[in-house]
Amino acid sequence: MDCYLVWFLRIPVLCYLAGLVIGGDSGSLSSGQGVYNSSTTPSNLPWNTYNYCNAPHVNAKHYSLPANASHAKLVYMNAVIRHHKRSPDNLYPEENELNSVPWDCTDFTQYSYGGSGSHVFHETSIPSWHPFLSQIWNGTCDTGQLTKGGFDDATAHGKACWSINEKDIFIRTSTETRTFQVASGVLVGMDPAMAAKSFPVTTQPSPIDSIVPAYSCPAADAIRNAYQSVPAWTDHLDANADLKARLDATLGTANRSDWASWYDHFFDTFTSRTCHGHPLPCNSTGACVSEADAAKVVAIGDWEYDYIWNAAENATAYSQLTFGTSVLSLAQNFKLFRSGGDPYKLRFYVGHDGSMIRLASLLGLGKVAPLRWPALGSEIVMEVWQSKKEKFVRVIHEGTPVVGFEWILLDAFISSLESQVPASIFELCNSS
Ligand SMILES: *[C@@H]1O[C@H](CO)[C@@H](O)[C@H](O)[C@H]1NC(C)=O
Ligand SMILES: *[C@@H]1O[C@H](CO)[C@@H](O)[C@H](O)[C@H]1NC(C)=O
Ligand SMILES: *[C@@H]1O[C@H](CO)[C@@H](O)[C@H](O)[C@H]1NC(C)=O
Ligand SMILES: *[C@@H]1O[C@H](CO)[C@@H](O)[C@H](O)[C@H]1NC(C)=O
Ligand SMILES: *[C@@H]1O[C@H](CO)[C@@H](O)[C@H](O)[C@H]1NC(C)=O
Ligand SMILES: *[C@@H]1O[C@H](CO)[C@@H](O)[C@H](O)[C@H]1NC(C)=O
Repeated sequence: MDCYLVWFLRIPVLCYLAGLVIGGDSGSLSSGQGVYNSSTTPSNLPWNTYNYCNAPHVNAKHYSLPANASHAKLVYMNAVIRHHKRSPDNLYPEENELNSVPWDCTDFTQYSYGGSGSHVFHETSIPSWHPFLSQIWNGTCDTGQLTKGGFDDATAHGKACWSINEKDIFIRTSTETRTFQVASGVLVGMDPAMAAKSFPVTTQPSPIDSIVPAYSCPAADAIRNAYQSVPAWTDHLDANADLKARLDATLGTANRSDWASWYDHFFDTFTSRTCHGHPLPCNSTGACVSEADAAKVVAIGDWEYDYIWNAAENATAYSQLTFGTSVLSLAQNFKLFRSGGDPYKLRFYVGHDGSMIRLASLLGLGKVAPLRWPALGSEIVMEVWQSKKEKFVRVIHEGTPVVGFEWILLDAFISSLESQVPASIFELCNSS
């Protein structure tokens, strides 16, 4: 077998062998459709079906070589993923009564310790006598905490296609614990020996973290407020007023502006439950959110994500201001590689839904088809291939090469990244 089939990261040979057999049928579905109640996509559905609980990703069985790769070899890549499944980030005003199943995190040890110190881990306790118990579920999970199921999905993600020489990989995460934990799961999936090893992940200080993104940008906020104040946005809130009233009555969320301005919190609190096999919430009088209403919420969630970060008039300006700093760092990586100066072969990022949707939008993936809410474990891989004379980039989204992004000159790809980074982004963010 020609050596171009042997990837520098060793195992993807497996991918390559599979790749010769040829990859995937399209699993694309329209908004709101897909799997929302299990990390395992049922075998009667295409492998790359949208699965909110555990997105499809590059894997040995369905990896395909680029059509143009006959004289090219893979030489470099950057990959960005969202963390895997977790407990809800948002709480209902009367959270306790809206969980018939406690949230159990005792099956996953939460280590956090200082360098040479004892291996301290923390266990969350929610005592029944706590005066504020009504505001939280019963059990042993904090909010937004990676679960054992999420960790297992991260490990499977790392196992799916990758193998590493640990010296070849650079990992960047946000400052959220769940992103470190996902990195640790991915690493051990790539190489079980990593379980016994320490490995650095790089973060930025939370006030200026580019990956969430967390840096303040009042000009971007103003742009977004403007396009969420026009009928193109407000019409969908008006059209779904009945749904909202039903949800509010059952969940006690009326008059809460953060539950009224969009469907984000309903989406999070429903899907976090269903992805973990918990039922949709039922209140103390026995009334439950219906499957039909939950289905409406997830479809609206897809629409909102596409509108805010991709489709709205000025969405590009908003995404550029809020994610330009991350895109700048990607552009720097590819330039460093081009100049022969990148010591790493794989730069791997673990971020959030907000990272994935902005990157997808700024890469132009939303011009191919409307974007959906980035699923847990969502993945964008940017491969660099060296042909006889030129270097090319291929972009793979949720395990499937993106139409129109299969073979782009590296120089053109870098220019396209740079074109999404506003000049003087700091000044622009803080201009009125
Ligand atoms: C998940 O939802 C689908 C569609 O609503 C349903 O057919 C399936 O039985 C559910 N699976 C689980 C594990 O609850
Ligand atoms: C890539 O392959 C396509 C289809 O075979 C061909 O039309 C195109 O010219 C190739 N591009 C390059 C840069 O080799
Ligand atoms: C939650 O804990 C409270 C206090 O111990 C108890 O009254 C309630 O029944 C528990 N709920 C569930 C669903 O276990
Ligand atoms: C988009 O930005 C332009 C220029 O600032 C502004 O005139 C227009 O009203 C904005 N559109 C929306 C929908 O906010
Ligand atoms: C439970 O939901 C029903 C139906 O939406 C509603 O009428 C009732 O007031 C709710 N009860 C509580 C305690 O929130
Ligand atoms: C919401 O506000 C309306 C009008 O101010 C009031 O009648 C209603 O009781 C409030 N509902 C809740 C759940 O606080």
